[in-house]
Amino acid sequence: MKVHIFTFLSFLALIFVSTLVTSSNANIVSNENDIQDKLIKCLTNHSLDSYPISSLIYAPQNTSFSIVLQSYVRNLRFNTSTTRKPLLIVTVTHVSHIQASILCAKENGIEMKVRSGGHDYEGLSYVSIVPFFVVDMFNFRSVDVNIEDETAWVDAGAILGEVYYNIANKSDTHAYPAGVCPTVGAGGHITGGGYGNLMRKYGLTSDNLVDAKVVDVNGRILDRATMGEDLFWAIRGGGGSSFCVILSYKIKLVKVPKKVTVFRVSRTLDQNLTDIVDQYQHVAPNLDRDAFIRLTLGVTNSTKTGLLTNQATYRCLFLGDTQSLLSLVHENFPLLGLEKSDCLEMSWIESVLFYYDFAMETPLSTLLDRHPSSLTSLKRKSDYLKKPIPRYGLEGLWKLMVELQTPQLTFNPYGGQMAEIPADVTPFPHRAGNMFKLQYATNWNEEDNDRSKYYIDLTRKLHNYMTPFVSKNPREAFLNYRDIDLGINHQGIRSYIEGKKYGVKYFKDNFDRLVKIKTVVDPDNFFRNEQSIPTLPR
Ligand SMILES: Cc1cc2nc3c(=O)[nH]c(=O)nc-3n(C[C@H](O)[C@H](O)[C@H](O)COP(=O)(O)OP(=O)(O)OC[C@H]3O[C@@H](n4cnc5c(N)ncnc54)[C@H](O)[C@@H]3O)c2cc1C
Ligand SMILES: *[C@@H]1O[C@H](CO)[C@@H](O)[C@H](O)[C@H]1NC(C)=O
Ligand SMILES: *[C@@H]1O[C@H](CO)[C@@H](O)[C@H](O)[C@H]1NC(C)=O
Ligand SMILES: *[C@@H]1O[C@H](CO)[C@@H](O)[C@H](O)[C@H]1NC(C)=O
Ligand SMILES: *[C@@H]1O[C@H](CO)[C@@H](O)[C@H](O)[C@H]1NC(C)=O
Ligand SMILES: *[C@@H]1O[C@H](CO)[C@@H](O)[C@H](O)[C@H]1NC(C)=O
Ligand SMILES: *[C@@H]1O[C@H](CO)[C@@H](O)[C@H](O)[C@H]1NC(C)=O
Repeated sequence: MKVHIFTFLSFLALIFVSTLVTSSNANIVSNENDIQDKLIKCLTNHSLDSYPISSLIYAPQNTSFSIVLQSYVRNLRFNTSTTRKPLLIVTVTHVSHIQASILCAKENGIEMKVRSGGHDYEGLSYVSIVPFFVVDMFNFRSVDVNIEDETAWVDAGAILGEVYYNIANKSDTHAYPAGVCPTVGAGGHITGGGYGNLMRKYGLTSDNLVDAKVVDVNGRILDRATMGEDLFWAIRGGGGSSFCVILSYKIKLVKVPKKVTVFRVSRTLDQNLTDIVDQYQHVAPNLDRDAFIRLTLGVTNSTKTGLLTNQATYRCLFLGDTQSLLSLVHENFPLLGLEKSDCLEMSWIESVLFYYDFAMETPLSTLLDRHPSSLTSLKRKSDYLKKPIPRYGLEGLWKLMVELQTPQLTFNPYGGQMAEIPADVTPFPHRAGNMFKLQYATNWNEEDNDRSKYYIDLTRKLHNYMTPFVSKNPREAFLNYRDIDLGINHQGIRSYIEGKKYGVKYFKDNFDRLVKIKTVVDPDNFFRNEQSIPTLPR
């Protein structure tokens, strides 16, 4: 019965919201104020006496609203005066606040977004094309490591740096295979199928997830046993934001040696770059899985001509000693010309700082810093490479990159464990047959919207050039490298068709199973955003 009332209410609300969008600006503002009032009243009404909520609700008229909003904006492209602001931010500290938020969002037919670390490349956790409010998870940040079990419970609002730091605090031979940027939030990262430099040995973050606590659309708190294997499958790479609010994850720790070896070396065009990159493409996905060598292509000022020239930077994490790494690279990748003096031995936790280019001697406590040392506007796109780019392709790439100047292109080698996990074990489908995941990255420091368009276009041009060389039908993409160019869902009558457009790129054949699960666990499409999983058409 209750469900029917909610369905009816959200139906009314839908009509209400769609009229809202088409009415005049003045009406929008007054209607939004109205919804905001109702939301606040509802939230206060539904919070428990022992966990009051009012001091956790920030509306634009509260002086700290901007600070709270900006605290976890990680793409300055969405830090402008014209970016749509949430009606409220609820900085939840107790699960009852999340339950109240879900209930009140339903009652008022308003879109609810969940933000953990705020690193979504398109800002989907804190911007929207429709009126919305934010449930902000940054107060949920405990990391509870159990070395005997080789597991840890990690709250959604914890950042990866906190996860790594807390593991290393208890053991110098354990790690967690996740992203290289320490400020990324566990909340979005793990459920989006996150990866880092342990991927070839141990798979994705979501491959090393053993349990989770979530709040479902009816406000129930569920774990793996009570949510069932379908929902647990969906949140291991399908993106939690389509299904539930994730409170915490139980992750499986992995083993690393006491000392690992790293290097970072750069080569420029006049050092036979085509030969080196060509050889790299053939060997990196087939190397021993203890070795992860990432390649980033960019441009630099030539020391000889003073003009821009191409540069390739190789960053390696090797789970072994210098001698073994040197013989591995000399045997398989001799053109790199790696020398013993390029290699550094250190603990795994120190390698986390090294890999993200922190200066040597940076204290480990830097990993606990929630604020990135610098922020920029940015655009990212992704691709999958199933065969090496031919030499003529590389040579064209050199020319184009010098012309475009700003975008960088990063090659993340697959193979190893990534090729062994079948494509349907989790929603993440990009497994065997992939040599590299590519990331196109452009960063800039101008806030002007026209300049943003210019830099976004540069990224698209580079991506466009790569069309003949990368996966097709579909042209695959990585969910955690959120890219709104792949399509937007307006959540209307065409929702399934719109969803399929980006859905098959992110999930291939797993898209339909995600839709089926979505239709069962959230039939009224409460958990939605611009790229969420749609329900089956009725
Ligand atoms: C500097 C930088 C470096 C990065 N490096 C890597 C990398 O090495 N490897 C990699 O895989 N990715 C990387 N990413 C991408 C990153 O993994 C994704 O953006 C990830 O989704 C971020 O999670 P978050 O919690 O910080 O983001 P948020 O913006 O808070 O959330 C991202 C999405 O998840 C949803 N969400 C967040 N929390 C919850 C929750 N508790 N319950 C339900 N839904 C939730 C949001 O609504 C949103 O849709 C990087 C991003 C940046 C900006
Ligand atoms: C507050 O809650 C009570 C019962 O839970 C309900 O009857 C009342 O309508 C609610 N008021 C508002 C403003 O939501
Ligand atoms: C925001 O302002 C309202 C009204 O003045 C107040 O009740 C509420 O506590 C404020 N919120 C915070 C987080 O200070
Ligand atoms: C975001 O914008 C605000 C207001 O324009 C500004 O004060 C703030 O410094 C910006 N944030 C960053 C990190 O640049
Ligand atoms: C672990 O953390 C505690 C508390 O922060 C600190 O005092 C201790 O030095 C750390 N130990 C290691 C091995 O990092
Ligand atoms: C480039 O390749 C040529 C021919 O293979 C070789 O003679 C030369 O030494 C190489 N240059 C560099 C800088 O490695
Ligand atoms: C190249 O040099 C110019 C000025 O000499 C400088 O502005 C620019 O930032 C440099 N570019 C790179 C990629 O280092």
